[in-house]
Amino acid sequence: MTDRYAVFGHPIAHSKSPRIHAAFARQTGQDLSYEAILAPKDGFAASLAAFIAAGGRGANVTLPFKEEACRLADRLSPRAQLAGAVNTLSFDAAGIAGDNTDGAGLVADLTRNLKYPLAGQRILLLGAGGAARGVIGPLLEQRPAALVVANRTVARADALAALFGNGVTACGLDGIEGAFDLVINATAASLTGELPPLEPAIFAPGGLAYDMMYGRDTPFLVFARQHGAATADGLGMLVEQAAEAFFLWRGVRPDTAPVIAQLRAA
Ligand code: ATR
Repeated sequence: MTDRYAVFGHPIAHSKSPRIHAAFARQTGQDLSYEAILAPKDGFAASLAAFIAAGGRGANVTLPFKEEACRLADRLSPRAQLAGAVNTLSFDAAGIAGDNTDGAGLVADLTRNLKYPLAGQRILLLGAGGAARGVIGPLLEQRPAALVVANRTVARADALAALFGNGVTACGLDGIEGAFDLVINATAASLTGELPPLEPAIFAPGGLAYDMMYGRDTPFLVFARQHGAATADGLGMLVEQAAEAFFLWRGVRPDTAPVIAQLRAA
């Protein structure tokens, strides 16, 4: 029997996950189906329960349900616990297992695809919401020289720094000091076509600017390029977080490069 998987979100119509997982399944010869499920904003738990009852084996979870998925899981991986959010669920006799592959996806894209080693680098993370929190643990594991979290609302950056302890420094967007080898935009500003108020001096010579958003050249990436930084969008992260979820479910690691190339060409 074909194993069923799905991604839950609201909205979900434009999700690339079904295409990505179908490509992984073809490539690795895995017999599975993967669909997109639109859950009502107040109906994620019920939607998920129905999917499990119908024989679903696992699911990805996207906005706005990642925190709720974290609460619904019977057990959590350490990285999901740290992230406070879940993007990958597995269902078995012991219940619902929650994991978070977003940070691993970002690190894989930076280090493997973009060949940008993070050890010893000065990293600036813009934003202090769920997207930022989800990647801090995996970034710290790469042993950067510094990880600064800068947020419009300083109190939220302070809360993240307190949560992660040594290794993370917090500041406001107007209090960023020094230049950074890597600047990651994890704010929601790109979604609305806005540029967070930033000084050009944040980009170190030869540095990289990474926007977690994909699909369009964001004001952040345009600004970074104008000030000498190399740029990358979040498409690689999207495919890599999916590959990590696929590995958790199937025990097989798909080759991501052809899938990223396919999506870029489309
Ligand atoms: P997500 O789960 O996507 O991180 P979130 O928890 O709503 O969503 O967080 C959104 C992040 O984007 C926050 O860091 C927010 O800053 P505040 O905490 O000050 O609200 C940031 N953000 C959103 N729009 C922004 C903008 N126009 N400029 C700068 N930061 C912005």
